[in-house]
Amino acid sequence: MSAVLQAVLQFPGAHSALKPAGPQARIAEGLWNSMYATAIVVFLLVMAALLWAAFRRRRAEEPAPDPARERRMRRVVAAAVGITTIVLFTFLVSDISAGRAVTATPGKDAIQIIVTGHQWWWEVQYRDSVPQRWVTTANEIHVPVGRQVAVELRSTDVIHSFWPPNLTGKRDLIPGNENSLWFQADSAGVYRAECAEYCGHEHAKMALLVVAQSPDSFARWLTQQRDTAHTPADSLTSRGQEVFLSSACAMCHSIAGTPAGSRVGPDLTHLAGRATIAAGTLPNTRGNLAGWIVDPQRIKPGARMPPNQLDPADLRALLAYLETLR
Ligand code: CUA
Repeated sequence: MSAVLQAVLQFPGAHSALKPAGPQARIAEGLWNSMYATAIVVFLLVMAALLWAAFRRRRAEEPAPDPARERRMRRVVAAAVGITTIVLFTFLVSDISAGRAVTATPGKDAIQIIVTGHQWWWEVQYRDSVPQRWVTTANEIHVPVGRQVAVELRSTDVIHSFWPPNLTGKRDLIPGNENSLWFQADSAGVYRAECAEYCGHEHAKMALLVVAQSPDSFARWLTQQRDTAHTPADSLTSRGQEVFLSSACAMCHSIAGTPAGSRVGPDLTHLAGRATIAAGTLPNTRGNLAGWIVDPQRIKPGARMPPNQLDPADLRALLAYLETLR
């Protein structure tokens, strides 16, 4: 999975509204381009008028009042006001119509995802008519290319805002209120999204990845996510599972197929398959995971996870176990 992260890091366009990868983002980009082009033309005209006024030859004495000239000047000013009004009105109309196009109701066959904002991470849930087939993950949304994805947005604490600029605009996650948006990725890739509403201490470290993949590989991913966690096959990982279940970990996290079922923190059933930890803060490597478990406050001060003073042997076993959770 570090290949996924490398793709994000090496592709600077993975977080840019100017590199649209879906229909809605293209609408927003079109709106921006038309405003940008208009602004350049207006700027050049204003600068030209300013330079003309500054450098035109002046007569030595005040010219005699010329009613024809006055009338001409009045017409020029009226025309400028008229053109400005038309330009602003055109902006207003194109802005409203772009907004409507972006927020149009998605089709019936759209994939439904529930994204819940927490301070400071994202819970992602794929529901199904059979509850056993629900998939819960964190800080990573997988979607198939070329299909609409309807996202229901919720929050458990404060207002957050979901913003994947390559795919669509922002939408707030408001406690006690359901909001929604939809997007579609037209090409495979990893796109970065982030919280776009100040939500406290670690707002800046509240990112998530949108992984757009071919329909087949998305289906494989979803099937694999439905599995319960890997069962320890050797003494080291068994010990690791014991450490997990007997320490503070199990009080906040769940791992499907074990007694750990708390939903306070991210679901860790398939943790090792994710590219980052701590909501896009660090690449998901053994060293980073160890640092995070021992002292999360050093990496993300204010995060809800407390430090865990584990015996080194226990920590090694725990890491070995977590790395099996693919
Ligand atoms: Cu969540 Cu800012």
